[in-house]
Amino acid sequence: MPALLRLEEVSKRFGGLVANDRISLEVQEGEILGLIGPNGAGKTTLFHCISGFYTPDSGRIFLRGQEITGKSPEEIAQHGIARTFQIVRIFKDLTVLDNTIVGALLRTRSVQEAKKKAVQILEFTGLKDKMDRLAAHLTIADKKRLELSRALATDPVLLLLDETMAGLNPQEIKEAVDLIRAIRERGITVFVVEHVMEAIMTVCDRIIVLDYGRKIADDVPANIATNEEVIKAYLGERYHVAG
Ligand SMILES: Nc1ncnc2c1ncn2[C@@H]1O[C@H](COP(=O)(O)OP(=O)(O)O)[C@@H](O)[C@H]1O
Ligand SMILES: [Mg+2]
Repeated sequence: MPALLRLEEVSKRFGGLVANDRISLEVQEGEILGLIGPNGAGKTTLFHCISGFYTPDSGRIFLRGQEITGKSPEEIAQHGIARTFQIVRIFKDLTVLDNTIVGALLRTRSVQEAKKKAVQILEFTGLKDKMDRLAAHLTIADKKRLELSRALATDPVLLLLDETMAGLNPQEIKEAVDLIRAIRERGITVFVVEHVMEAIMTVCDRIIVLDYGRKIADDVPANIATNEEVIKAYLGERYHVAG
């Protein structure tokens, strides 16, 4: 069986800066894969390339063996890749329900059907009680949860989460981890960028590390936590390995 997602030597440059430098990786169906690295390492750029917001300068991207390189964000969403943004992008003047309906409308033209789907998703993400509120009035944690709800409403096979835990308190982080696990239980594969190491180390099956646009490690969390190059590039000051 081919990998769910496969990147072959994907590069993205901004002028002289190589933000993604020949990155190859695979995401397997059903896994929770982490993507970590210092600020500016190229994590968000890579998510932009995968989701069609950027076209790679070179390299190829395949979803279930089918090439998606250079397709538009809408086409890639149709193929089943959904994402959240490091800086939340929701419709502030719409309600929680309407924001989620926007996602569901990717798969149906019936507003009735989209609404039914949206309510189910909001029940799953824990926002149903707030579905009539304006998005602008939500807390940061709930805004992130709403963006996630809209992504889930598109019925993705692969979900890209870009720092959904940034700015959350410990209780909210715990809830976010539980939600990521529950999403995987629904059969959705999760690829997650996160700086909260305690969360990423416990929730991920495997972690990829970027540094200056290059992939420097790709391994299970226990090996990432003790990898000398990773500690030097990133973990050193922020995560102390027990023992
Ligand atoms: N649109 C852009 N134009 C120019 N440089 C960019 C752009 N987007 C990102 N960069 C640069 O590319 C590098 C990687 O950025 P980014 O992917 O946002 O890193 P990360 O998400 O790992 O913090 C950084 O040096 C950043 O300044
Ligand atoms: Mg980023």
